[in-house]
Amino acid sequence: MTDKKIIVAVDGYSSCGKSSMARTLAKNIGYIYVDTGAMYRGVTLFALREELITPSGEILEAELESRLSSLSLTFDRQEGYEEPVLHLNGSCVEQDIRTMQVASHVSPIAALPFVREFLTRQQQALGQAKGIVMDGRDIGTAVFPEAEMKVFVTADPRVRAERRLAELRSKGDNSISLEEVLKNLQERDYIDTHRPVAPLRQAEDAVVLDNSHVSIAEQDLMLRFAFEAILAHLRGGQRG
Ligand code: DC
Repeated sequence: MTDKKIIVAVDGYSSCGKSSMARTLAKNIGYIYVDTGAMYRGVTLFALREELITPSGEILEAELESRLSSLSLTFDRQEGYEEPVLHLNGSCVEQDIRTMQVASHVSPIAALPFVREFLTRQQQALGQAKGIVMDGRDIGTAVFPEAEMKVFVTADPRVRAERRLAELRSKGDNSISLEEVLKNLQERDYIDTHRPVAPLRQAEDAVVLDNSHVSIAEQDLMLRFAFEAILAHLRGGQRG
């Protein structure tokens, strides 16, 4: 497409469709896609497996901090998956990080400053050569504040809850109601936006995309236009 590469930061709330959007964009422009939520989930899975989270939900922080150096998180190819998926110390954990157990412990783990520091460093290393679409909560604000293109995705909470409910139903989970899913989303939004270190917030220079009623194809088209416009601008030497 072009020899000039940029960093695309996609941040936003959970279940607002930002991962599908970021993934589709990366594929269509030949960029690497990095799902940073998977990395926070990977640390959470590690903590659960090593019993560094007690049954009552308490995190053994000092122990976790000292054990992080023995934790390797990589995105590698795996049979059965189209794209590289998360590996924890060499083993594929793509399925294991998507469980309700991990989902219910990840927000407090993601609020720990030493966990954020550990993962932020790795994310910055992944983006060193640019040519990357990174999706998360703090990519445009903390990981790559200098990213050339920043998108902040929002969607109506009810639309997000419906999307999440459909996802659960498709996996055969009929145990939870729309109201419960909505409440859970709102609680997670609260934790993500109120933690002291790198809370979820819109970067001042981010483009806001309200994803309530936009299809993936429409989003991709919009983002590709924006991407091309930024590259044209960069080629003109006015930025970067
Ligand atoms: O996107 P996700 O639902 O897989 O993210 C899982 C959790 O990780 C979520 O509680 C927010 C947190 N997270 C974060 O704090 N910073 C990021 N860059 C990505 C995710």
